[in-house]
Amino acid sequence: MEERVVAHYTREDLAVRLLALVEAQGRDPRRLRPEDLVGVEDMHVGGRAATERFAGALPLQPGMELLDIGSGLGGAARFLALAYGCRVTGIDLTTALVAAARTLSARVGMGDRVRFETASALDLPFAEASFDGAYTIHVGMNVAAKDRFYAEAFRVVKPGGFFALYDVVRLAGDPGYPVPWAESPETSHLATPERLEELLHEAGFEVREVVDRTAEGAAAMAESAARIADPGAAARASAPLVMGADYRAKIANIAAALGDRRLGCFEIHCRRP
Ligand SMILES: C[S@@+](CC[C@H](N)C(=O)[O-])C[C@H]1O[C@@H](n2cnc3c(N)ncnc32)[C@H](O)[C@@H]1O
Repeated sequence: MEERVVAHYTREDLAVRLLALVEAQGRDPRRLRPEDLVGVEDMHVGGRAATERFAGALPLQPGMELLDIGSGLGGAARFLALAYGCRVTGIDLTTALVAAARTLSARVGMGDRVRFETASALDLPFAEASFDGAYTIHVGMNVAAKDRFYAEAFRVVKPGGFFALYDVVRLAGDPGYPVPWAESPETSHLATPERLEELLHEAGFEVREVVDRTAEGAAAMAESAARIADPGAAARASAPLVMGADYRAKIANIAAALGDRRLGCFEIHCRRP
């Protein structure tokens, strides 16, 4: 199962191609700043606006040690390091994305503020109580063993620390496939927000807040679908590079499923007692 997930997310030379896109948008390649990556580095519904909303609800303090589980291109990790002064470690199953996250961080001068390693959410390479907090964005949809996922998050967070997720959930049905996280139902493991809450309780967490972001997500995906309908805009978008040749179908399917609330986007904020 994990091999299929890695194959789904692996794109050769992704960082180089994303940097070329950023440079084609007029940024100086010799002096790239972290904000130049906004628009290409967030692999989740709602992009940077969603990252900012999610981060705003986390109990963050400068100097905190955080773990980003399934960090992708590292967009959220760099944002939390820059905006909140946290030290962020990202782990991801897909080595090509770990390499891309490192390259992008180095190119915007943040190589010493975030670090990225290849690892599975189901077997975190960290000791008990290593982090002040952990979070995960749009990863659970690829993970069948959510009990193991949350047990691992619980183990590595310190007592009193936080764990939060922002995921696509099932509300009233299934999406059409492909979607951005899966080509077919075999690698898509959607659960209801109630089931996620139950699993988080079972892992030992205290669930503090459940936030429905479906309306914001549906609006963002409808806007993306409209934007890429223009071939000129699609040529300047990162979606074809990140999602592959069938990016239009993936975006249309998630936009439709969020639009009629078959699926939802939820944040769940927890604390390790
Ligand atoms: C949709 S992307 C989201 C990336 C990033 N969190 C973001 O929001 O920009 C999903 C990521 O989860 C990673 N992933 C999926 N299953 C995983 C697992 N079992 N352990 C670690 N990472 C996983 C994938 O490799 C991919 O980078």
